Amino acid sequence: MRRILVTGAAGQIGSELTLALRDRYGESNVLATDINPKPDPDLLESGPYEVVSILDPDSLAHVSYRYNIDVIYHLAAILSATAEGNPDFAWNVNINGLKNVLDIARQKSMDRVLVPSSIAVFGPSTPKHNAPQDTVLRPGTMYGVTKAAGELLCDYYWKKYGLDVRGIRYPGLISWKTEPGGGTTDYAVAIYYAAVRGETFKCFVSPDTTLPMMYMPDAIDAMLQLADAKPDGLRYRNAYNVAAFSFSAKELEESIRKEIPGLEVVYEPDYHQEIADSWPATIDDTAAREDWQWKPEYDIDAMSRDMISNLRIKLGL
Ligand code: NAD
Ligand code: SER
Repeated sequence: MRRILVTGAAGQIGSELTLALRDRYGESNVLATDINPKPDPDLLESGPYEVVSILDPDSLAHVSYRYNIDVIYHLAAILSATAEGNPDFAWNVNINGLKNVLDIARQKSMDRVLVPSSIAVFGPSTPKHNAPQDTVLRPGTMYGVTKAAGELLCDYYWKKYGLDVRGIRYPGLISWKTEPGGGTTDYAVAIYYAAVRGETFKCFVSPDTTLPMMYMPDAIDAMLQLADAKPDGLRYRNAYNVAAFSFSAKELEESIRKEIPGLEVVYEPDYHQEIADSWPATIDDTAAREDWQWKPEYDIDAMSRDMISNLRIKLGL
């Protein structure tokens, strides 16, 4: 039986991935960790939770031994918009934190480490359409710099120490359970909250800004599928491109308006625009489809219907 530790478990992905892992492997076998002392009650009540910073390697090692951990899902990170506001802090958490996690996994001879990367590893010199698996990685943001360097570090630990590290380059993720934490694609979540509340949405990117996106259930499935894949079939250890759909902010507005016709949006691009413009509009995920049979389920309209019905319940509207 696997004994799993999740870092950053209180975040947008962790709050859902942890519950999916507990369903699969048993509640007591999945230790959720984060620096957030007051996470969602679902997380606290469904299994063990410890307040641990990834910048504190002794505490990380202590809980890893105490719970006899053999697999880590490493989600703790600083996302793009927050990272641009405090690049030194982002470097510390995203690089030194990752290295602490990889070192503990190596020292404890763990079975596996899963690490999300991001479309932010790409930059203005990457092809804008169908960004390939292997391509130019010259990101223009500190978040992207840390994600690209983090991918290289994962590759290095695989080659040098034989640590079974597996990575995914997620696109922007859309979900209703936990609000996102300081990213550029967050507008694509916030617009649903405004629509359900009947508020005018002020969008911080322009209507024609097109980015790769994915609905959270597919993102969780992707991570679980990659974790289960046979090691011999994995050509990439840094991170696999995974895609679901790409849309412009205007196309998202139109999809939501099919369910909530009264939605009003005003476009007021700010500093997020430059970050969004540095990322590709579409990415090529052939390698993930070939190596571990990745295939998303949701299209944009199916996502909009599901988001709106879940948010109405969550917000009591
Ligand atoms: P999030 O910001 O929602 O959650 C990150 C969590 O990490 C937070 O709960 C925060 O409290 C915690 N954290 C921050 N510093 C910490 C520290 N020092 N020690 C322990 N915990 C700490 O982020 P997310 O969206 O859940 O992202 C998880 C991972 O997925 C990150 O690596 C991110 O780069 C990647 N990713 C996310 C998206 C997305 O759209 N959400 C897209 C691509 C990649
Ligand atoms: N959703 C993330 C962000 O916008 C992409 O990694 O920062």
